[in-house]
Amino acid sequence: ATLEKGSVTWQSPSNIALVKYWGKKKDQIPENPSISFTLDHCKTITTIEFSKKDNLENFDFEVYLDGEKKDDFKPKIQTFFERVEIYLPFLKQYRFIIKTENTFPHSSGIASSASGMSALALCLMSVEKQLIESDVIVSAVEEDFDDAYFNQKASFLARLGSGSACRSIEGDLIVWGKTKSIGGSTDLFGIKYPYKVHENFKEYQDTILLVDKGEKQVSSTVGHNLMYDHPYAQNRFEQAHQNLENLKGILESGDLAAFNALVESEALTLHAMMMTSMPYFILMKPNTLEIINKIWEFRQNTGLNISFTLDAGANVHVLYPKKESQEILQFIQRELVAYCQNGHYICDQIGFGAQLI
Ligand code: PMV
Repeated sequence: ATLEKGSVTWQSPSNIALVKYWGKKKDQIPENPSISFTLDHCKTITTIEFSKKDNLENFDFEVYLDGEKKDDFKPKIQTFFERVEIYLPFLKQYRFIIKTENTFPHSSGIASSASGMSALALCLMSVEKQLIESDVIVSAVEEDFDDAYFNQKASFLARLGSGSACRSIEGDLIVWGKTKSIGGSTDLFGIKYPYKVHENFKEYQDTILLVDKGEKQVSSTVGHNLMYDHPYAQNRFEQAHQNLENLKGILESGDLAAFNALVESEALTLHAMMMTSMPYFILMKPNTLEIINKIWEFRQNTGLNISFTLDAGANVHVLYPKKESQEILQFIQRELVAYCQNGHYICDQIGFGAQLI
């Protein structure tokens, strides 16, 4: 049997960690467990067109972002292909045209690696599925090539592209990294959070304030490496296990005050790790701190459940429950948007994972 060519499109979301992944071992194995909200609006849409080729020696692919050829994306994808080839042995038999676009602006300072790598991994899984269905290749797990297996392997592959990307395949809460308080958790791929979640967290809102839309000052590869020989690393890794266990209780009880304290502490700890590594970095900007202070003041004055989290950059993710969104969004627009670059911000909320288009 043969399959000369085909095409597939996936859209895959970004995610925001509540307990942060920072530090990794060989083969993209995380040093500590993490948990994230899958987002809804911030997505990457990727189409792969594949066609059979004769030369089996090299990978052959082109990458387009918004219709424009992007050769500077190729090294990262080449590395990804090299890492996943043993799991996708057909990669050298086809030429791939990878066409990708994001629903959020590229120069927004929002990392597109989670949504981008997860979309690519899903596309390659669909190619594998088509090849199996056309009897070109035999599945290692013929009987069980079901959705669960598909998602699991997609998450596994996405992890090899960018660690946090393994948390973008499904929603709405995803755990990655083995930890004793979460049954079924593994370092190899993300799993859906397996316990009951209080309705306070349904449709949780994430308004992303774009404080600095520039290129990332520290790539996440460099960042993770800073945790080698870091004086506080071991304590931090233990703390992440503990925070995840504590968060489990919070997600069940719906205790929003405890939730706010835990996610803010996680964000500041991530930044503290960067400030106390060698070399050291400060990734917050003055406006990041202005926003944090305003959030604290507003929470103090109103008792509303607004909190923030940060990734490895200056932008602020403002988190709040759906039922308080009217007053909080007004506050954000009135007081916080002024600190955003060109007044830009993105309203997002918890989402449910990637979709085949
Ligand atoms: O997936 P990476 O290697 O880009 O790491 C991302 C790490 C953080 O975004 C800072 C935290 C996280 O858990 O998403």
